Amino acid sequence: AGAAAWAGGVFDPRLVPPNGDLVARTEAARRRSGAATVTARLNPRPVTHDLGGPTVATWGYADSGPGPLIRARAGDLLRVEVTNDLPAPTSVHWHGIALRNDMDGVPGLTQRPIPAGGRHTYEFTVPDPGTYFYHPHSGVQLDRALYGVLVVDDPHETGRYDEEWIVVLDDWVDGTGRTPDDVLASLRSMGGHQDMAGMHHGGLPGMSMGGMEMMTSPLLGGAGDVAYPHYLINGRVPAAPVTLTARPGQRVRIRLVNAASDTAFRVALGGHRLTVTHTDGFPVVPVTTDALLLGMGERADVVVTLGDGSFPLVAAAEGKTGHALAVVRSGTAGPPNEARRPVELDRQVLTTGTLRAAERVALTDRRPDRVHRLFLGGAMMPYRWTINGTTFDHTDPLLVRRGERVRLEFVNTSTMFHPMHVHGHTFAVAGGGARKDTVIVTPRRTVAVDLDADNPGQWMTHCHNIYHAETGMMISLAYR
Ligand code: C2O
Ligand code: CU
Repeated sequence: AGAAAWAGGVFDPRLVPPNGDLVARTEAARRRSGAATVTARLNPRPVTHDLGGPTVATWGYADSGPGPLIRARAGDLLRVEVTNDLPAPTSVHWHGIALRNDMDGVPGLTQRPIPAGGRHTYEFTVPDPGTYFYHPHSGVQLDRALYGVLVVDDPHETGRYDEEWIVVLDDWVDGTGRTPDDVLASLRSMGGHQDMAGMHHGGLPGMSMGGMEMMTSPLLGGAGDVAYPHYLINGRVPAAPVTLTARPGQRVRIRLVNAASDTAFRVALGGHRLTVTHTDGFPVVPVTTDALLLGMGERADVVVTLGDGSFPLVAAAEGKTGHALAVVRSGTAGPPNEARRPVELDRQVLTTGTLRAAERVALTDRRPDRVHRLFLGGAMMPYRWTINGTTFDHTDPLLVRRGERVRLEFVNTSTMFHPMHVHGHTFAVAGGGARKDTVIVTPRRTVAVDLDADNPGQWMTHCHNIYHAETGMMISLAYR
């Protein structure tokens, strides 16, 4: 039934009102920047990926790793032509982008699914610079290799760094003889935690290196329902990691994207501290930390000044055993030490929800006109996740009116954490916190976020654990 709500339903264009406010805002952005039209093509298809040892049959946008990097400048018109060569209907959602509602890529809510063999063109203006990503909004397709990064550059930003690396984190299930749909079926029949139990102790190739022990004491209670056999950075297992190179002393901007379906990652770069400059695309008051925790759907931009040598960039699966790895090389000095577990992982760990918004993107002070409280609940047995006690098929939309300041209070009544994501808007964590579109709500805690209702339409609001979302933890936010 969850699948029907997520991917099916009948699309009624009358349900999508015109986007007056956003049109004005994006038109202004277009005039400001002397905007261009950027064209890209996506071809979701069955592929064989070499993960750097394991070779897997899956679905992807590219022959290896994440889909093509799509890059535009704020104010540009982006036109993406999708040719669906998958044996299933699909869709493309532009995670974090404030776009016109009918381009948001949610089958059953904003468009019809793109049928197998079908084509669809997305066309929208990208108003805000930042690090974003794209993925299907169809079932658990995200847990295949169907994701890619969208970078929107700031035409006014002058380069304050020498290099830029894009680092995409993923938890990988496929290639074990099971697909994400099998995992979903197994969760539904057995409940969480038991799924794939034992696989992570099974000594699969590429599982560990240099005796690195990757179980961390979790910051997040209930950190994920699935133990994955592999964790990836840019499509590679730790046994054959990607290498990122620069020169000693150079300042590097790392755009981190957590595209995983059921895994939060604790990220650290051995021998370095990370200065976080942006989260979910928007600037923050910079904070320097040893490590950073990134939930599913979250992004962070960090700046590091590179030392001389070879360093492990590690993403440890929070509360699970396993990690993803990339190797950073600068200069020639010193023996490679990427097999060592970075001590930074166990020092100061920052969560992005605690960051403050940079002044220029802070929401103005204003009392909320409307408060919606969302109780996040569910159970492992049977495996089913709810908002306000009901699964998505049965929830009434959260109603808002254009022009309102809306507060959403995410009240986590469960023992799992939930990275909560709102489409089409960037909220502020209440009380001057960072501008974000995805925020982790830890067990038994409440996180309030404020948004300006400036983009009419129907917008998904859901947990970015794709298995939680697919079994019910979604609701729509609708303008009336
Ligand atoms: Cu990346 Cu509806 O989400
Ligand atoms: Cu969840």
